[in-house]
Amino acid sequence: MDAVLVGLAPRAGETALDLYAGAGLFAAALAEAVGPSGTVVAMESDPPAVASAARSLADLPQVSLRGVRVSPGSLRGLAATGADVAVLDPPRAGAGRAVMQALLALGPRAVAYVSCDPASLARDLAVAVAQGYSLVTLRAFDLFPMTAHVECVAILTNTPGGERGTHAPA
Ligand SMILES: C[S@@+](CC[C@H](N)C(=O)[O-])C[C@H]1O[C@@H](n2cnc3c(N)ncnc32)[C@H](O)[C@@H]1O
Repeated sequence: MDAVLVGLAPRAGETALDLYAGAGLFAAALAEAVGPSGTVVAMESDPPAVASAARSLADLPQVSLRGVRVSPGSLRGLAATGADVAVLDPPRAGAGRAVMQALLALGPRAVAYVSCDPASLARDLAVAVAQGYSLVTLRAFDLFPMTAHVECVAILTNTPGGERGTHAPA
């Protein structure tokens, strides 16, 4: 969570996205960071996960929880509001080119890509770099000890030089 929040540096009043939101872990933290004047759009397609997220996020009215698939179409639906920052935590297959392009077309200044598959992460990061985003940090976490699996957090920005905000870890 610190790797995501430090990388995104969300500010009060901003619009944040939590894509592939699961039970809403990142949406809850983003909601606290953007505060009551901000907005968090959380998208998750699995009905039981959406139900869990609805329970976890019930006391955070700034969160708009959507039980939809993350797709180019659902992301285009956010064009009117855009996005200041975004976190995506897709399954192993990753987001894919079309979703990455639709997400970045919303113009987020920072994106945190949480991945449990380095190969799909690398493929999707290449799409972001081709769209003018910079890979600022890439951290790996041994969340699955005694296995070959590793969890990664990549931070992308569209700021020249990869400048980031000032959010400091707790
Ligand atoms: C790695 S988990 C994310 C967990 C989440 N960050 C949390 O805190 O619970 C990936 C999630 O993506 C969801 N998912 C898979 N494909 C999706 C899609 N096309 N659109 C939306 N959600 C999807 C799965 O149901 C799963 O909850």
